Amino acid sequence: MSLITRTSLLKPLAQIAAATLLMSASLQALAAPVELKFSHVVAENTPKGQMALKFKSLVEERLPGEYVVSVYPNSQLFGDNNELSALLLDDVQFVAPSLSKFERYTKKLQLFDLPFLFEDMDAVNRFQQSESGQKLLRSMKRKGILGLGYLHNGMKQFSASTPLVLPEDAQGKKFRIMASDVLAAQFQAVDAIPVKKPFSEVFTLLQTRAIDGQENTWSNIYSKKFYEVQSHITESNHGLLDYMVVTSNSFWQALPSDKRDVIKASLDEAIAYGNDIAAAKVNKDRQAILDSKRSKLVALTAEQRQQWVAAMKPVWSKFEAKIGKDMIKAAEASNRQ
Ligand code: LMR
Repeated sequence: MSLITRTSLLKPLAQIAAATLLMSASLQALAAPVELKFSHVVAENTPKGQMALKFKSLVEERLPGEYVVSVYPNSQLFGDNNELSALLLDDVQFVAPSLSKFERYTKKLQLFDLPFLFEDMDAVNRFQQSESGQKLLRSMKRKGILGLGYLHNGMKQFSASTPLVLPEDAQGKKFRIMASDVLAAQFQAVDAIPVKKPFSEVFTLLQTRAIDGQENTWSNIYSKKFYEVQSHITESNHGLLDYMVVTSNSFWQALPSDKRDVIKASLDEAIAYGNDIAAAKVNKDRQAILDSKRSKLVALTAEQRQQWVAAMKPVWSKFEAKIGKDMIKAAEASNRQ
């Protein structure tokens, strides 16, 4: 065969091979699952950490090959200071900040930070499932953020490097708080110094004694080992640490409606699962901390606790106008059912 004939035969073969390669590459690209990112700041062995992993497994089981969920715990991807702006930029599709961290987007959720508002988690549930509670899920819609559901952690306790029995024991002490003006006012009400810091910095701040104390749930105190660097924990149950699972409105509306339904149903189930874990962890993580003997428990008598209530509750009136009196009333009413 002449050289010319051989080259003229090879050319179409090479073209076919190239076309096949191109086709399979674009088919692969077509079939690549869509990645949904879920970022959070806590450890995996927490209600939020477990809820996110459950959500991942449900979505991937129900929409196999179509969607994958990548979960980033421990502020690995985004922390308190940037997770909501990242959501609006579509760099992450789901986050679940504590209700104390939305102040830049709405003042309505300040409700949940009012000290001594809810008597227990049943009251929190009743309020959140009520019309008023459900309305708050849409309170940031105009800012592009959509609430998909509430997730629990639990009631907060005070921890410190000295025992806090009465409000005056907090005087002059520095407490890390989440970025919330209500929480700042709560500590100022007992002449303490609130310091707004991201969650990822709390352990080091406590360990180096840059601050004296903080407030958090048994689950966070345990999973982030705060109890190893705080000598006392006051069982105050003075406030709530709860989350809103949020997405961006534009991302959510752009999802095909049948896929959105599956993703929402998976999230609802994952939240129910996370809430069961939250309820179990209150006693479990509390007990693990007590068993460690690293921190001493300060149990308050009814009279001692009443002094904290008397000192902190006046804070409500400062925020009433922005939160709305009706909202506060509705939340209070959930205690008496
Ligand atoms: C905190 O910052 O203390 C908590 O909101 C962390 C969390 O997400 O539970």
